[in-house]
Amino acid sequence: MDAPTKTKVVLDESQIPTHWYNIVADLPVPPPPPLHPATREPLTPDDLSAIFPMGLIAQEASAERWIEIPEPVRNIYKLWRPSPLFRAYRLEKALGTPARIYYKYEGVSPVGSHKLNSAVAQAYYNMLEGRTRLTTETGAGQWGAALALACNLFGLKCDVWQVQGSFDSKPYRRVQMETYGASVVGSPSDLTAAGRSFRERFPGTSGSLGMAISEAIEVAAGDPDASYSLGSVLNHVALHQSVIGQEVLLQLKEFGESAPDALYACAGGGSNLAGIAFPLLRENLEGRANTRIVACEPKAAPSLTEGEYRYDFGDTAQLTPLLKMYSLGADFVPAPVHAGGLRYHGMSPLVSHAYHEGLIDAISVRQREAFDAGVTFARAEAIIPASESNHAIAGALREARNAAETGESKVILIGVSGSGQLDLPAYADYLSGQMVDS
Ligand SMILES: Cc1ncc(COP(=O)(O)O)c(C=O)c1O
Repeated sequence: MDAPTKTKVVLDESQIPTHWYNIVADLPVPPPPPLHPATREPLTPDDLSAIFPMGLIAQEASAERWIEIPEPVRNIYKLWRPSPLFRAYRLEKALGTPARIYYKYEGVSPVGSHKLNSAVAQAYYNMLEGRTRLTTETGAGQWGAALALACNLFGLKCDVWQVQGSFDSKPYRRVQMETYGASVVGSPSDLTAAGRSFRERFPGTSGSLGMAISEAIEVAAGDPDASYSLGSVLNHVALHQSVIGQEVLLQLKEFGESAPDALYACAGGGSNLAGIAFPLLRENLEGRANTRIVACEPKAAPSLTEGEYRYDFGDTAQLTPLLKMYSLGADFVPAPVHAGGLRYHGMSPLVSHAYHEGLIDAISVRQREAFDAGVTFARAEAIIPASESNHAIAGALREARNAAETGESKVILIGVSGSGQLDLPAYADYLSGQMVDS
C-alpha cells in the first residue's frame, strides 16, 4: 500500500492543554447534586474530607469552566502527552468504507491507558495536603497501574484492591502495579469488614468494581494519613480526562477536519467517554459542531441503555454518597466479561445527566462483537486495543459498515482508551473460539 500523506498528528509538548475543561459550566441544565445518604441533603465539602483532599473536593463541586493544570502535573503529562490522533486509512480500506475514520490513542501512556491523566492529578493534590497513602480499586488493572505509578512519582504508598476475576486472569497487571511499588490484593478480600461480608453474601464471587471500591473506602476512612482515590465516575476524574478531547480538537484541524460526525468511546464509570467527548460536546452546545456522541457499554453491564436514572450508591457496601446516575443497582454483579474496566453497575453523574438531557447517545455491545472488532482493528492498524476499547471500535465499525452501504463519507472518531498488550489472555480466549458471549 502506498504511504498516505498524513497518518498521525502528534502535537508539540507546548500544546498540552494548560487547563482542564469543566462541562458543568456549559450544561444547559445544572446536574443534580450528590446527596448525603443519611440526610438526603446535598453533600458539603466536609462530608468528603475524610477520604479526599480539599483540592479534589473543590474540583468535584466546581462550576468554573477552566481549571489550571498545576505545572508539576503538566510536566509529568509530558512523558506521553500529547497522545497521537491517527487517520485509520488501513481500517477504512479493510472495511471498504467511504467514511474517514480517526482514532485517538491513549494506550501510549506508560501504563497503557487514559487512566494516568487523572492518577497523576489525584496523587499530586493528595501529596500537597500531606496524605501519605492512597487506597483504590481496580477492575482491568489499568487504573491500579496508573495510580501505582502516580503514587510512586509523588512518594506516596499505594494499596490496590483488584477485582478477583481480573486478579486471577491478569497476573501481569499485578506485577506491573507491584513494579511501581504498590501492594495489591484480590477483592473481595478478608482484610476488610466489607470484603468479609461480600464473601459471605456472594460465595465464590469473581468480585466487582462496586465491591472493590467499598474495601478501599473502608480502609482510607480508618486511616487519617490515607485518602481514597477513585479511577472514574466522579466529576473531578471526568475533569482531568478533558485533556483528551481538547487535544483532539487541535489535531482534527491539522488533518483539515472541523468536527467528527460521530464519536464512539467506551464507558465503564464514564471518565474516558467524558474526557474525549465533553470538549466536543461544548462545540455542539455552542453551535460550532453537530457531533453524535455515542457511549459504548458492554451488554454485561448496560447501565445507560438498561439501567434506571435514580440516586444510588457508587459501591456495593453503600459507603459512598448517593449519586444521581443510571444504575443497575449497587448490588448488581456483572458477568465476568474480559473488559474488567467496564464491569460497573453505575455511570458518571455527568455522563448520566448528559444522556438524560439527550446530549449524548448510548449503545451496548456483546463481548464477541467487541473482540471481533478489536481483531479487525489490530490487523488493519497494527495496535492491539484494550478489551474495553474494543467496545468503542465495535460501535464505530457498525457505523463505518453502514456508510459503506449508503456511500456517505462521514467522519468517525474512535476513542481508543488503551493498549491490549496485557489483555492477551482475552484475545487467546476469542481466537480459540471459546469466548462466552455476554
Ligand atoms: C483501557 C480502558 N478503557 C476504558 C475503561 C473504562 O473507563 P471509564 O471508567 O473511564 O469509563 C477502562 C477502565 O478500567 C480501561 O482500563
